Parts: sequence; C-alpha cells; structure tokens
Amino acid sequence: MHQERPLTRRRFLKTTGAVTGGSLVASLPASSRPNVQGANEFLRLGFLGVGDRGSNLLRHTLNCISVSTLRVTAICDIDPKRRDAAVEKCGGMQPAGIHDYRELLDRKDVDAVVIATPIHLHAEHAVAALAAGKHCYCEKPLGPTPEDVKTIHEAVKKSGKRFQVGFQWRYHSGFLALADVVQSGGIGKVNFVTAARHTASYPTSGWYIDRKLSGDLIVEQAVHEMNVFCWVLKSHPLRATGVGGTNALKGTPPERTIMDHYSVAYEFPNEITLQYSHCIYTPNGLGGLHQTFLGTDGRGARLENTTRLTVSKDGKAQAKDIPLPPEEDPTELAIQSFVQCIRQDKEPLANIEAGRVATLMAILGRTAIQKRRQVEWEELTL
Ligand SMILES: NC(=O)c1ccc[n+]([C@@H]2O[C@H](COP(=O)([O-])OP(=O)(O)OC[C@H]3O[C@@H](n4cnc5c(N)ncnc54)[C@H](O)[C@@H]3O)[C@@H](O)[C@H]2O)c1
Repeated sequence: MHQERPLTRRRFLKTTGAVTGGSLVASLPASSRPNVQGANEFLRLGFLGVGDRGSNLLRHTLNCISVSTLRVTAICDIDPKRRDAAVEKCGGMQPAGIHDYRELLDRKDVDAVVIATPIHLHAEHAVAALAAGKHCYCEKPLGPTPEDVKTIHEAVKKSGKRFQVGFQWRYHSGFLALADVVQSGGIGKVNFVTAARHTASYPTSGWYIDRKLSGDLIVEQAVHEMNVFCWVLKSHPLRATGVGGTNALKGTPPERTIMDHYSVAYEFPNEITLQYSHCIYTPNGLGGLHQTFLGTDGRGARLENTTRLTVSKDGKAQAKDIPLPPEEDPTELAIQSFVQCIRQDKEPLANIEAGRVATLMAILGRTAIQKRRQVEWEELTL
C-alpha cells in the first residue's frame, strides 16, 4: 500500500478530472471509483456529531461536493437542533437525520463516517464504525487515555479500512515546507525545538472543561503541535517533565478541571530537546503561536501564518519566507485527501500511527505535570 502524497487543490482537481459541479464519476477510471455497495457511484458519507467542528467539516465537505463525487447520506447527532440544522445545510441531498449512531452505522448507504463527537466518545464511535465496515475520518485526538489510543489502533489494524485523523496541518503547505527543509537537512542537525501557543480564548462549559472527558488542554488542543513535532522529527519522545495547572482562571467556572497554563519539556532520540508552553489567558493582543526547529546551520519556523527559514552563512542570518497560497484551506485539503485515499486504497498522511504517537505524546506531558515527575514513554505504551 502506498502512502498518500500531499495534495494541493489544483492537483486534486487534476487527479479527479473535476472542474465544476455535477457527477464526474463516469470520467474516472473504474479502479478509482468508490468502493461502495450496489450501483451507487458516489462515495457516501455519514456525519457523526455535528457540533462546532462537525458542522465545519460538513461545510468544507459541501464545498468539495461541487468539484467531486461525494454525497452526504446521513447525519447523526443526539442534539435535534444541530442535527436538523446540518440536514438543512445539505439542501437537495436530503440526508437522513438520525439520533442513534448505531442506526447510522447499520445503513448500507454510508461508506465512510466523519466522527466529530466529544473526545471521550471517539474510541466507542470509531471502533463501532470500523466494525461496521466504514472508513473513518476521526477528529483529533484519539482519546483522553492510553487505553483509548490502544483500542482504536487495534481496531484500525484489524479492519483494513482507511482511517484518517483530524490533523489538517498535515495537509498545510506551510507545515509541509517546514517538514521538507528540516528532514532534508536544510538547517543541519536539529538539536532544540521550542514552541508556544498563547491565546486569549478558552472554553467555559461542557465536556471541554472536564479533564476526564477532554483529556485536558494539552491533549485536546496541543495534540496538533504534538503531531507536527513527531512528524517533522520522524520519532516520538522518550520521556517528559512538566509543570502547570490553573491559576488565573481558577473557578471560572467552578466545575473547570482543566489547566489554564503549563510548560512541558520532552527528550527525543538523537539528543533533541523540545520545550513547549501553552497558556489560554494571555491578555488580548499579546498572544501568538509558533513552532521553531533549531539546527546547527539554521532555523525553520512556523510563525503565525508564515513559514520562515533562516540559514546562517558567513556569520550572517539569511531569512526566507515561504509564501502560502491565499485560498488554501487545510481542512478542505484533508477531506479531499481522505476521499482520494479511499478511492485509491492509499494510506492517509494523518494516519492512525500519526494519531497514536501525537495523542500519546500529549498524554505523556499531561501525566508528567500531574505526577510531578519525569515520565517515560514505556509507561504509557500498554
Ligand atoms: N481539527 C480541528 O482543528 C478541531 C477544531 C475543533 C474541534 N475539534 C475536535 O472535534 C471534536 C468535536 O469538537 P466540537 O467543538 O465540535 O464539540 P461540540 O460539543 O461542539 O460537538 C460535539 C457534537 O457531538 C454530539 N454528540 C455527543 N454525543 C453524541 C452521540 N453519542 N451521538 C451523536 N452525537 C453526539 C453533540 O450533541 C454535539 O453536537 C473534538 O474531538 C475536538 O477536539 C477539532
């Protein structure tokens, strides 16, 4: 099985032969037609969970529909308002609105399921979807515990189905450029990685603020960065230490059990040290996001919306910014790539292994902070 190549919107259009709306399946070679039951030529998607992210993924999917060969056939959410709103968005496609996810998975007119339910339900929903013979696009992270990670990992391996994790940065040309330069030795030997996510926005209700359900801030949110670290460095950390907790947002609201700030340090193979800090109460206008890889010959960094490569030559730093296509949308590229992986039986870039190591890296950091000691990777791999 081949691994999927990064996909640009232009290449997606070229590959599928799609230009504008309508069914283009007839123009596809038989081998790239969807693996569906019966005579239906479309790849048929069911959505499980259409809250904030699920409805966002649906919107992006509907954008793809005008240029490809997808159909949304079923929408499941226990919240009738959200379910009805999502069905409505699909207009003439008229997907079935479903309350119980088992009914969605029993349907013969669903080939693949997009899962965007709260994190503590991912294992239950992904395992059931794979057992029902559906391909899965499952939002990040795999789950709040190492047990969840192991359960999904085993189910994917057993199923033979395509499984993609909601790491849209894996399809983002800025991150792809950063990975290329670091992995090709463009900044020399990497010794140190430093990164931060300092924001002025934070969740105030629901499963997001419950550590047991979300896995805490580091697992729920920073798993995106953990994915970048493991991908770019082509490995996972050996151990972690960390400090953090709740200070500025204590009691807001009283049921909050997640941290509002923390700092973690990881040791990677080849004597690479990585430091990451995360704070969600940064005063307005002072926040920022970066991931910086420091090598013996230069530096590769994602700074907000720029990828900046700085090489040291003759004692002088020479910086080069890599421009990004303004219309690029990584989530749309991720969905398109998922569809292509199903059609062509290819392994997704954001595959189960990416989900496994990134989720475990985040859980490793959380465990070190909670236990107030150094924690080894082996302690988490069950
Ligand atoms: N990739 C990204 O950038 C990104 C961004 C935001 C959220 N997410 C992820 O997306 C997932 C969902 O986050 P959200 O912000 O949309 O949460 P949300 O609470 O807004 O939505 C979750 C939805 O799932 C529904 N649901 C709960 N239990 C269900 C069940 N048993 N059956 C059917 N539906 C059920 C809820 O009614 C709700 O509509 C999380 O894993 C989150 O980490 C990813």
